[in-house]
Order: sequence, then structure tokens, then C-alpha cells
Amino acid sequence: MHKALQSKSSSSLTRVIHPSMKESMDFQEIKDSVKSSPAFVLDAYAITDALAGLTSLRQQCGVKVLYALKALPLSTVLELAKTYVDGYSVSSLFEAKLAYEYLSDTGSIHLTTPGIRQDEWQDLKHYITHISFNSLTQHQRFADKDTDQLSLGLRVNPKQSFLNDERFDPCRSYSKLGVSIDELWQSADFESIKGLHIHNVFSVTEYTPLLETIAKLIKYFGKDLAKLEWLNLGGGYLFEQIKDHSPFVTAINQLRAEYNLEVYIEPGKGVVGHAGHLVTTVIDSFVSDSKTIAILDTSVNHNPEVFEYQRQPFLHEHDAKGAYGAILAGCTCLAGDVFGEYRFNKPLKIGDQLVFKEVGAYSLIKANRFNGYQLPDIYLYQDKHLKVIKQDTYQDYRRQWLAN
Ligand SMILES: Cc1ncc(COP(=O)(O)O)c(C=O)c1O
Repeated sequence: MHKALQSKSSSSLTRVIHPSMKESMDFQEIKDSVKSSPAFVLDAYAITDALAGLTSLRQQCGVKVLYALKALPLSTVLELAKTYVDGYSVSSLFEAKLAYEYLSDTGSIHLTTPGIRQDEWQDLKHYITHISFNSLTQHQRFADKDTDQLSLGLRVNPKQSFLNDERFDPCRSYSKLGVSIDELWQSADFESIKGLHIHNVFSVTEYTPLLETIAKLIKYFGKDLAKLEWLNLGGGYLFEQIKDHSPFVTAINQLRAEYNLEVYIEPGKGVVGHAGHLVTTVIDSFVSDSKTIAILDTSVNHNPEVFEYQRQPFLHEHDAKGAYGAILAGCTCLAGDVFGEYRFNKPLKIGDQLVFKEVGAYSLIKANRFNGYQLPDIYLYQDKHLKVIKQDTYQDYRRQWLAN
């Protein structure tokens, strides 16, 4: 059923803990302090810690860092990121507008999407500084004379798959993402662009894919790369989990020295992934076909990638050697609304609090109110205080569904 992500005990994860992480709250503290459930707790220290790690990379090789809004566009994160990043990476008009609100004065806003709409283009142009068109047809349709103030580029598909699950492989067969590198190599469009964008990995914790991708780019375009102004290497790397950054630093320094390129990265999950935790409460418990089922006050709709990718999130209370097993299930009517089977040191009972760990990215942004269950309250832990920063109410649900 679920991938055995949880079967590794969480302590076996390789993770660089920066000194400042000591200031993060522990999970018992989270459970004792939250006043409502389900609760999404965002740890400001963990975010600034990840950003500080990226700042160190910026200092070592001059790479420019953009925060990818798609992972979690919460204003608090944009505020926290503001002083650490060179800009934001966006995928739509709404993301561009939000980024502009927070960053227009201090950084650049870079967009790539397969979904540019003719009716939004005039508006969109106003909010962004860089664009990587997803296809040659998109480039030819939108790169008109009104784009003088924009730095125009193309997303290139390097045709290198580093994943064996094509649901999140941008280089899968018949990919919709980017101009195939062979096509771009033969295209006259290369002469009129200022930059290239690549994004071809998913949650990677080492630099081999990056180095192979850069090598392929150099093999194809060689000295012509110097005709460009920038190269955006996309997101997909979990920088805080990588121990040795020297291959990255060397590669970026080389790109900058040999081709005079500005090099960007645009992590999302690498900034917020490990900084968000979902606190939930057991609201019912019974036996079904000889296994204990614990119904939670949350559901996979608060972390839809659990269902989309059939992944089991880390659970703080899980102990692989625990004597008591239980299937943690969501509270909606969908039979497959299940987080998976976990093990515990004592039997679960109604009222117990549990914490799904490191679900900061792609959870709330994809969350929905299916069955009429509200979204989790959002808490921020900062300066040793936990405070509610957003609460979803019946009025929000009503506004969503009340027709004019
Ligand atoms: C074009 C692009 N840039 C950046 C990102 C951010 O990736 P991640 O959150 O894995 O770092 C994504 C994620 O899908 C993406 O598609």
C-alpha cells in the first residue's frame, strides 16, 4: 500500500542540524502548547536556519537564491525569507502578485509555467522580472515588443530522468515541461533569449543529478552559454540534508567564471519542508478486521500528497519496535483517506495527540475542505512563543461555496 518511507526510523535520516536548530521547539512542547486541533505548526527557526544555509552557499559561490512560492505561499514565510533571498520564483498570476506585494522593492520575480493565459498576460508582465517560457510556441506568442522590461528565457528539458516514478519526473516521456534540449539546440530562438531554466529533480539529497545536468548543457551549448545572462537550475534539492556542498560550489563558480552567467536556484521544499508539522488528535478508535483503526481529526486532504503519491508521512510517535500497531485514518468519507500503519509504545486512545513531522511543503497549499472539514489552524513558533496566525472558520467555507 503505502511506500515504506516511515519504515526507516526517523533517526536514521541523514540530516544536517545547524546549531541554531537547537532553538526549535520539541514535539512534546508543540503538543502541550497548541490550543486547537488539527494544527499546522510552522517553526520560524527551522525556516531561517535553512535560509541561513543557503546564504552560506550564496557567499561561497555567488549563487542567487529564489524561494519557490508554490511550496507554501504563506505571507509569514515570505516575510521571513525576504532578507535572505534574491527573489521569489512563481508559477501563476496570483503567485506573481503575492510575491510582488512582498518583494517588489528588494528582489526579482521569476516565472515559469506551461499555463500562461492570453487574458492574463498584460497583468502578469507587470509583476515579474524574469520569465522562462515553457515551449517555443509560448515564446513566439508572448515575446512581443512589450516585453522590453522583462528578461526572457526558455525552460529546457535536458531529457535526463533521475526518478523512477514518472508522476513527478519532469523528463518523463512525452513531457509537457520545457523545450527538449535537442529541439532547442537546433532552434533559432536560442539567439534571442537571455536565460535558460532547468528543473528536473524531486527531493534530491546529493549533487550528482545537478552535475550531470550541467555537463549535458555544456556538451550541447558549449561557449554559446556565454551569450546568455542567466541560468536557473530550478528547485528539487533538499540543501539542508546535503552534507558536502563542495561539488555545488565548484560547479557554480565554474559556470560563473567560464560563461559569465548569473546562476539561480529556486528551492521550495528545501526551505519549508522540515519546518512544518501537523498536530492531530485521535477522535475515535476501533478494531476492523483485527487491526486497530484510529480516526484522526485531520485527513489526507490536509496533506494531499499522502494520497497522490501514496506516501506515508513521518510520525513523531512512531516506533518501529513498538508493541502496538494502528492504522491512522482521516475523518472523511473516502475509504482511502488513510495515512498508513504505524507502531506505538502504548495503545492509542481517544484524545491522544500525534504529530506528522516535516510536512511544511505542498501540504497546506494543496489542502481542501472536502466533507466540510475546516483547514488546520496555523501556528507560528518564533522567539520561544507559539501563536495562532490563521484560523479557518465556517465563514471561509461559506464564502467559498455561496454563489452570488
Ligand atoms: C519549476 C519549479 N521550480 C521550483 C520548484 C520547487 O521545487 P522544490 O519544492 O522541490 O524545491 C518546483 C517544484 O515543483 C518547480 O516545478
